[in-house]
Amino acid sequence: MDSLDLVSPYLFKHKGSNFLVKDKMQPEDLDALQYFEIRSTDVFLISYPKSGTAWMQQILVQIMDAAHPEQAEDVSNRLRVPWLEERSADNPLRERPDPRIFGTHLPPDMLPLGVKAKQIKAVYVWRNPKDVLVSFYHFAHSWVLLETPTSFEDFFQQFLDGKVYMGSWFDHVREYYAVHKQLNIHFVQYENMLKDLRGEVVKLCAFLGKDLMDDTIDHVVKMSTFKSMKTNPNANYKDLVEKGRYLGETMRKGVAGDWKNYFTVAQNERFDEVLKYKMSNFPLPLTWEI
Ligand code: A3P
Repeated sequence: MDSLDLVSPYLFKHKGSNFLVKDKMQPEDLDALQYFEIRSTDVFLISYPKSGTAWMQQILVQIMDAAHPEQAEDVSNRLRVPWLEERSADNPLRERPDPRIFGTHLPPDMLPLGVKAKQIKAVYVWRNPKDVLVSFYHFAHSWVLLETPTSFEDFFQQFLDGKVYMGSWFDHVREYYAVHKQLNIHFVQYENMLKDLRGEVVKLCAFLGKDLMDDTIDHVVKMSTFKSMKTNPNANYKDLVEKGRYLGETMRKGVAGDWKNYFTVAQNERFDEVLKYKMSNFPLPLTWEI
């Protein structure tokens, strides 16, 4: 094995993204994921960290349960929506019953080749990067595999420089948007889910080809609210807390605009400058106010 390209004692760089030194996935394991066998019924949940991944997991699982009640399982979403890059290419995940759902933070050029070749459905959830940064800052204090930030300012700069787990938010979002049509990706904004969860669930059902009755959609929504997920051990990753792998609150605040409690005026101006520069010509509106 070649030596790792270290970004910090906790992160190594591979193909432009940053992965965990303490994780079992090494560069060759990540590369092998390109050959992970994709089925045409697979659904991918793709996100940059802290953008609403667990929330979307819960929504997708509820939609799939409603559409395939015979497959409803009372187990954690971590098992039902396995994380692609947590395991090696040949593992029992491929034996899960159809339709399988996988989660990933991988950038588009590291996805299994079958995602594009089979045009499988993928959902990309994204969020105001300022709130992503704040959520990530807390996450970095809580997840034992990450380096604890020395200060908010230090973490703030690392985020802007893309020197955090997975790398640059700006690159991730831009790269996914650039390929979303080639890849059959449905973009969902976290803040839109906060504004109108039902409306976003209805759009998701249409994208996934799931024709659910109104009261079934109501149930999906009810099961996917912050309040409901906070007390649902299958949805809130509490088992990681119990196992000592996560030391904080997995369902922290679940709001938009928390960055205002953390950013100084100067930091906000710096962030806006980088956002404008990095996302110039980005076609979606970069406004997240509710
Ligand atoms: P905060 O830390 O800002 O509270 P991810 O799952 O990608 O790691 O994202 C985690 C963020 O999503 C956390 O944000 C978490 O609280 C928020 N979240 C999870 N479930 C949610 C829900 N049902 N409604 C709103 N936010 C939710």
